[in-house]
Amino acid sequence: MSVIVSPSMLSCDFANIQRDVEMINNSSADWFHIDIMDGVFVPNISFGLPVLKAMKKHATKPMDVHLMIADPDKYVADFAAAGADILTVHYEACTHLHRTIQNIHSHGMKAGVALNPHTNVDLLENVIREIDLVLIMSVNPGFGGQKFIPNAALKVAQAKNLINHCGSHAVVEVDGGVNLETGLELIKSGADALVAGSFVFNSPDPQKTIADLKALEV
Ligand code: DX5
Ligand code: ZN
Repeated sequence: MSVIVSPSMLSCDFANIQRDVEMINNSSADWFHIDIMDGVFVPNISFGLPVLKAMKKHATKPMDVHLMIADPDKYVADFAAAGADILTVHYEACTHLHRTIQNIHSHGMKAGVALNPHTNVDLLENVIREIDLVLIMSVNPGFGGQKFIPNAALKVAQAKNLINHCGSHAVVEVDGGVNLETGLELIKSGADALVAGSFVFNSPDPQKTIADLKALEV
């Protein structure tokens, strides 16, 4: 199966959101990656619920929402109402992660858990059968356009092993510094989905760049 490509709207032109959403609709991308930052969990503020709602009005593909916020459990219902299809929370931001996963599912969304670069994959052992997606961060979250952290490829392989060993159906997504070179390495390590922001939106032909990522094969 070909890799899932999820372009990060953090790098789109915020003055032309509808245009960029339609560009993704008409590309070979699979999902929209939506980065929500609160200036508390991460040292940056991106955008929030009204912007997700506005994008959802035009989007024809699933909204893959990545919450980089403190206490995400409080906002699960709001993100469901705003149009999230997949809701990913950070392991590091959840005191009661199992409860938050249940909360996400009870609102009809798929549940993902993101791991910062320093967080061990095996910490997911007791929830891996409950979740739909593991998000391996290949940069420290907070900003687009950062340099890929090579250890992420090892973590992808570890996540894949854990998933197979435990009989989980979760997919492994990677986020940060993804381009054709790092993307290929990640796929070789077992990644099912790639997020790419600056590599897509800063390229001369974003639809071709998406197609190039989509065509990556082991
Ligand atoms: C970073 C975000 C990423 C970001 C990726 O905290 O989670 O989704 O948009 O940007 P690039 O692909 O430019 O590293
Ligand atoms: Zn992200």
